Amino acid sequence: MSEHRIDLTVNGLRHSARVEARTGLGEFLRDALGYTGTHLACEHGVCGACTVMVDGVAMRSCLMLAVQADGAEVTTVEGLAAPDGTLHPVQQALKDNFGLQCGFCTPGVAITLATVTRDNAGVEGAAMEEALTRAMSGHICRCTGYQGIRRAIRQLSETAR
Ligand code: FES
Ligand code: FES
Repeated sequence: MSEHRIDLTVNGLRHSARVEARTGLGEFLRDALGYTGTHLACEHGVCGACTVMVDGVAMRSCLMLAVQADGAEVTTVEGLAAPDGTLHPVQQALKDNFGLQCGFCTPGVAITLATVTRDNAGVEGAAMEEALTRAMSGHICRCTGYQGIRRAIRQLSETAR
């Protein structure tokens, strides 16, 4: 099996590693680097649990190879909060509204909502709510905790108003 050296930044920290060509990005983040907040579930790109930002874009880390992230800047759920521990507004909204039950889907949901709120900075109320709700169509919550997530989305949309 061929091995490749990769260099990437994860949550602001630089990492170098040798990885097999077949190693998935999510597997690499969890097993080699210890960012276990990235959850792997379906591993088919369906559930969204494994979503991370790669160069600012929300990506399914189960569908990307680690070698494809060579030179990239990756943000996992561990990188959303501020260095002093202040939660990202998306994390705060999910917490305030009980937007998680077992929490397995939550890291991917948080990354997607953080990406959409950033990309729609300046978008107001109903338009923001629609953008966030549409993005949630790419996530499956096994606990069916969608009502809390919807309340969190509404709170985020109010803040943006
Ligand atoms: S584990 Fe990647 S989309 Fe489900
Ligand atoms: S909170 Fe359990 S899978 Fe979503």
